Amino acid sequence: MDMIIKNGTVVNGSATFKADVGISGGKIVCIADSIEPNDCQSIVDASGKLVLPGAIDAHTHLAMPFGGTVSSDDYFAGTRAAACGGTTMVFDFALQDFGEKMTDTVKRRDALCAPDAAVDYSFHVAVKDVDNGLLDSIDECVEYGVPSFKVFMVYDFGVTDGVFYRVLQKAKEVGALIGVHAENNELVNTLTKQYLSEGKTSAWYHYMSRPEFVEGEADERAIQWAKATGAPLYIVHLANKQGVEAVTKAKDEGYEIYAETCPQYLEFTSDVYKREDGRNFVCSPPMKGAESQAAIWEAIKRGDIDTIATDHCPFQSAEKDWGINDFTKIPNGCAGIENMYPYMLSAANSGKITFEQAVKLCSENPAKIFGCKDKGSVAIGKDADIVIYDPDLDFTITNDKMHSDCDHTIWEGVKLHGYPVQTYSRGRLVYDKGEFLGERGWGKFVKCSLK
Ligand code: URP
Ligand code: ZN
Ligand code: ZN
Repeated sequence: MDMIIKNGTVVNGSATFKADVGISGGKIVCIADSIEPNDCQSIVDASGKLVLPGAIDAHTHLAMPFGGTVSSDDYFAGTRAAACGGTTMVFDFALQDFGEKMTDTVKRRDALCAPDAAVDYSFHVAVKDVDNGLLDSIDECVEYGVPSFKVFMVYDFGVTDGVFYRVLQKAKEVGALIGVHAENNELVNTLTKQYLSEGKTSAWYHYMSRPEFVEGEADERAIQWAKATGAPLYIVHLANKQGVEAVTKAKDEGYEIYAETCPQYLEFTSDVYKREDGRNFVCSPPMKGAESQAAIWEAIKRGDIDTIATDHCPFQSAEKDWGINDFTKIPNGCAGIENMYPYMLSAANSGKITFEQAVKLCSENPAKIFGCKDKGSVAIGKDADIVIYDPDLDFTITNDKMHSDCDHTIWEGVKLHGYPVQTYSRGRLVYDKGEFLGERGWGKFVKCSLK
C-alpha cells in the first residue's frame, strides 16, 4: 500500500464511522477498523480529524470570456484554489461557439485545461447554437463523456424558450442532463432600462433589476418545459424562495428536477449591494432578501436542494470598478471555489446541518447526478480524492490566505469553525496546512456517463 490514513472518522453522504483508509495507485483499496502498516510507504495520523471525500464543484467559469473581459482565474489558479479548499474536481462551463459541434467545444476547452489543471475536471457544454444539425451533435458529446449541458435564459448568448424546449427534447431522447440559468431576460432588460433612465446606477439596482420574481418566474417556466418534455432538469444557482417552492412541488410530483445553490446565497443577502464595495458582489442571479435565504436553508435541510456549487467567476477590482457609475458595466461573477467546502463544513460543525449532509451536497450528489463513478465517497474502488478536516481549527477568510489569482474576495472576514488541513487528489498530497503542494497539469479530464 502507498499510504494509510489512520485513526480518523470517515464521513460519507450517509454514513459516519471510525476507520483506517488504505490507498494504492491513487485508489482507495482498503477500509478497515485497523490496517497494519507492514511495508506501507506513508502513514497519515488523522486522530481527531474527519476523513472526507473531496468536494466536486459542479459550476465554475475559469478563464471565461465574459462581461468584456476574461474571468481572472485561469485553469491553474482556479484549480489550485480548489485544491486548497478541499475541492478535488471541478465542472467548468465550455461555451459553444456559433456553428461549433458540442464535442469540438469540449475538445477546444480541454486543450486549454489539460496542461494547467491541478485537480481533476470535466465540463458542461453551454449551448448557444442548435441550428444546422448542431442539436444532433449532443448525441456524440454524450458518447464522448460529457452528458451535461446548460442553457442560459439571459445574457446576449441566452436561448429562446423554443431552443430550450428543443434541447430538453433531445436530452430526453439521448439521456443527457440539461442545466439552466433561469431569469426572465425581458424583465431584466426592461427594469434595467427604467432604472438607468432614472439615473439609478449603483450596484443596488443590479439587484432591483433582477428581483425575486424575475428568477422565480423563470424557474417555474423552466420546470414547466421539463415536465412537458419529460426530461430531467438541473437548475443552477437557485437563489429565490418562489423557485425553491417550484422545485419542491415538482419533486413531490415525482419529476426529476435537481436544484443547485451556492454558498454566497447562504451567507449574504441583497443588503450587500448597499455597501461601498457592493459591486464586488454583483453576480447573476443576485443575492436575494432574507426570506429567500431562509427558504434555501430550509430546502437544504429537508433535502430539496441537491448540490452546492460555487459559480466561481471572479473579476479583478479594477474590472468591477468599470461599474462605479453604471451597474450594467460590472462584470457579473464572484470568487468562491476555495470557500465552498470549508463554508458548508463549518455550517455542519456549528450544527446548522449535519456533516453527512454537507458531504452529500458537495461531493456525493454531484458525483451521482453528473455520472462520475470514481468520485463522491470514501469507498473501496473510488479515487483517493480525500480531505482531512480539523473540526477544531478556526479560520477567518482573508484574501491573502486564498490561492486564487483574484485581488479580493467577497468572503473577506467571514469566520469558519473548522477547516481542511490536507487535500489528496488521487492519493497525491496537493494541499497541506495553508500551502498548495500540487502541480500544474496533474488534473485529468474525467469522462462522465449517466447510463
Ligand atoms: O454572475 C455570474 N453568475 N457569472 C457567471 C455566469 C453565470 O451566470 O453563471
Ligand atoms: Zn448563471
Ligand atoms: Zn455560472
